Amino acid sequence: MDLIKKAAEAMTKAYAPYSQFTVGCALESESGEVFSACNVENASYGATLCAERIAISTAVSQGQKKFKKIVLISQNPDPITPCGLCRQVMSEFFSAQTEIVCLGADGKTQKTFVFSELMPHSFTKSDLK
Ligand code: THU
Repeated sequence: MDLIKKAAEAMTKAYAPYSQFTVGCALESESGEVFSACNVENASYGATLCAERIAISTAVSQGQKKFKKIVLISQNPDPITPCGLCRQVMSEFFSAQTEIVCLGADGKTQKTFVFSELMPHSFTKSDLK
């Protein structure tokens, strides 16, 4: 199954009773493993987890720390891009060249970026001196 299908399938599992906004993603590691996830909301709104952070955390907890690409889809007809909190988490593990493919709800409308375009000058562990 390709990354677009996996992201779209993950979106159907979204737990979004508060925002009613469903998101899914599929993250491909350098080794070719794919980790998909949806957003998971919480009654304590700040405890909500975006799809991207769940996919990255799942991958890392299974030993994958380098990534080629993430495909992101939501119910919005236009492509959405990752929130700032997710971009910071991405900056821990994504390279400047990691691809971010953002899809509209139809799975066809695409905007593609490399990570350095979405998060230039990010704060990373190399700043901890
Ligand atoms: N959300 C994501 O899962 N990923 C994004 O890139 C943007 C926002 C979720 C969080 C929340 O459950 C809902 O979308 C509305 O903000």
